[in-house]
Amino acid sequence: METTHVAIIGMGTVGTGVAHLLLDQSDRLAQHAGRRVNLKKVVARDLKKPRDVQLPAALLTDDIAQVTDDPEITAVIQLVGGLEPARTIMIQLLESGKDVITANKALLAEHGPELFDRARQLGRSIAFDAAVGGGIPMVTNISQCLSANQILSLHGILNGTCNFVISQMDTAGASYADALQEAQRRGYAEADPTMDVDGSDAAQKLAILVHLAFGARVPWQEIPRQGIDTLQPADLQFARELGYRIKLLAVAQLVEEGLELHVAPQLVRHDSPLAEVRDAYNAIRVVGDAVGRVWFHGLGAGQMPTASAVVADLIDTVVGRAAITFRTLELWSQRPARVMPRDYERVSSRYYLRFDVEDHPGVLAEITGILGRQQISIASVIQHEASESGDEIVSLVVMTHTTTEGGLRKAVSEINVLPAVQAPTMVLRVLD
Ligand SMILES: NC(=O)c1ccc[n+]([C@@H]2O[C@H](COP(=O)([O-])OP(=O)(O)OC[C@H]3O[C@@H](n4cnc5c(N)ncnc54)[C@H](OP(=O)(O)O)[C@@H]3O)[C@@H](O)[C@H]2O)c1
Repeated sequence: METTHVAIIGMGTVGTGVAHLLLDQSDRLAQHAGRRVNLKKVVARDLKKPRDVQLPAALLTDDIAQVTDDPEITAVIQLVGGLEPARTIMIQLLESGKDVITANKALLAEHGPELFDRARQLGRSIAFDAAVGGGIPMVTNISQCLSANQILSLHGILNGTCNFVISQMDTAGASYADALQEAQRRGYAEADPTMDVDGSDAAQKLAILVHLAFGARVPWQEIPRQGIDTLQPADLQFARELGYRIKLLAVAQLVEEGLELHVAPQLVRHDSPLAEVRDAYNAIRVVGDAVGRVWFHGLGAGQMPTASAVVADLIDTVVGRAAITFRTLELWSQRPARVMPRDYERVSSRYYLRFDVEDHPGVLAEITGILGRQQISIASVIQHEASESGDEIVSLVVMTHTTTEGGLRKAVSEINVLPAVQAPTMVLRVLD
């Protein structure tokens, strides 16, 4: 049997998991690859740091040149996080003739076009299934298995931290702050969770998926996004009462005017598979014109789920499948779907609105009057009686029929300045 020599750069959580699979499951991997896959070098920053994997001493180095200068090593797994030195390392690897496998979503979302172009100029490939959805083979499925389809839409729960926080608020009635603290305690959330909770992480993943599914290269910063940090347990309770759950969704859908993209917490019907996605799990619903709806569900992060995707990418690379997928992605990118200009008059949906208002007569009429003037028709209203403790602020919840976001924004900005309204209105889209 022939042998392919490979290396890992970055021996953190995922790198350790990948090393375990390569060292402990070499026979299984050889069967899948039709050749031996030999881990020849591991590059770490600190050689003295204790690792959860027994590495033969000759493998470990802190000198990347031992990989780039070794012509026997043809594929490299790059697991250094962040933007730099990860970007420079990727370029060094490509320029020294290596095919690269990475799980670094932030790097691809920021520098993907540059890195992909460079790889193509050099005749190399980049495989990145682990960068979106961790262990769920989303990238491979969208780019290979669904290639007979025009993808019509993607609806993804792509951030496990947010899904965990929302699940805690929903099932345990936890406040947003307590749920986030619990996510940090369990290691789901970073010490600084800003990129997760403000929707940036999901937008980065959506930008990668949109490139695969629609050929469009969209800077992730241009994707409109709303985070979960303003959600209150009351929103989860009201959603339940209305027969829905709330999920942070990353959405791409083809509409008449082009591709509509956004990341936002949304109401999803309680009996839909998206509503069933709990804790730190991820899921994505893809609609293709031939296949109809397909679902993918699983762990979107974690050492071994992510290592599973990285090693599958490695096998695809050594057998040559990754190069084919990478080339097709280029062809696909030459006819990208047009991204819809951000025009709120053209975006329409049903909406959930929560107003925190003073509990006195006439407030409901004032609010519904403003909605009516913007042609926003009301599907249902919930107002619970004020508590006996004499709360003077009550939540008023309105579900609208389908309306344009432009009209809704105008109405909400008028409502927010009414004297009886005590806090900015919570506005959430509804996915029926
Ligand atoms: N963890 C997950 O569940 C998960 C899921 C999907 C995607 N990812 C992505 O996978 C990548 C790796 O994640 P991770 O969780 O394994 O991160 P991590 O635990 O922080 O590991 C990163 C490793 O890279 C090493 N490193 C940094 N600079 C280096 C350099 N110049 N040369 C060699 N090594 C260097 C670090 O060394 P030190 O140990 O010396 O600091 C660290 O061990 C990230 O891009 C992440 O976003 C992770």
